[in-house]
Amino acid sequence: MKNDINTVIDIKDASIFHRYSTILNNVNFKINKGEFVYLIGKTGSGKSSLLKTIYGDLALKMGSINVDGNEIKNIKKSELPFVRRKLGIIFQDFQLFQDRSIAENLIFVMKATGWKKNKMNDNVFKLLSKVGLEDKANRYPYQLSGGEQQRAVIARALINNPIILIADEPTGNLDPKVSENIFKLFLEINKKGTTILMATHNYELIKKFNKRILNCTEGRVEEISVNYI
Ligand SMILES: Nc1ncnc2c1ncn2[C@@H]1O[C@H](COP(=O)(O)OP(=O)(O)OP(=O)(O)O)[C@@H](O)[C@H]1O
Ligand SMILES: [Mg+2]
Repeated sequence: MKNDINTVIDIKDASIFHRYSTILNNVNFKINKGEFVYLIGKTGSGKSSLLKTIYGDLALKMGSINVDGNEIKNIKKSELPFVRRKLGIIFQDFQLFQDRSIAENLIFVMKATGWKKNKMNDNVFKLLSKVGLEDKANRYPYQLSGGEQQRAVIARALINNPIILIADEPTGNLDPKVSENIFKLFLEINKKGTTILMATHNYELIKKFNKRILNCTEGRVEEISVNYI
């Protein structure tokens, strides 16, 4: 049940587990519609595990995680794609099909998620315009720079108008200048209303673009101020 229409992610007393070990305990936080939240913490502190649990790749055994009114623990396998469609997911390694153009990469996802054929081409152009790649639709991934490939991945994540974009170190493989441009693109997307939860190690950019910060440390998730990093 949806108890607050402004809350898009509501985590209560959740524990994040891998098969044999608890990674994070008693996780409690809410993210409201339109927020931009950084998830930080040392390597191995549990950022990716937490994100995976939110998007249903890692089972939640204790506590609750509610994504836009859906309690993920209760979701049947068959319903998972429907909930995932509310989430745009972005990783640091781009995961584009190398043997398909950027347009074909986007169309692949549109086909898989039930888009009408006659809407697809228009939408490819719209999405690529949003990320500044409108003239690169027919390029293959290897014909794009790392930053451009990440822009294509962001366009792909936006296909189904997600309520929240979940990004796991989206600038991990990019140089500082390109990373800043990608950060700015996330800021623009956020300004237009998409909620963003981003795991990142990029403290320089976190300090430059001050937002809410959740820190994974010693098996807990705590909210901290930018002054502590
Ligand atoms: N598939 C898995 N099976 C068992 N343990 C795992 C698995 N994946 C990760 N872990 C463990 O869970 C802990 C948290 O890993 P996680 O990948 O969530 O950290 P992270 O904060 O994302 O680190 P990084 O900053 O390096 O990406 C680590 O101790 C890791 O060894
Ligand atoms: Mg990680």
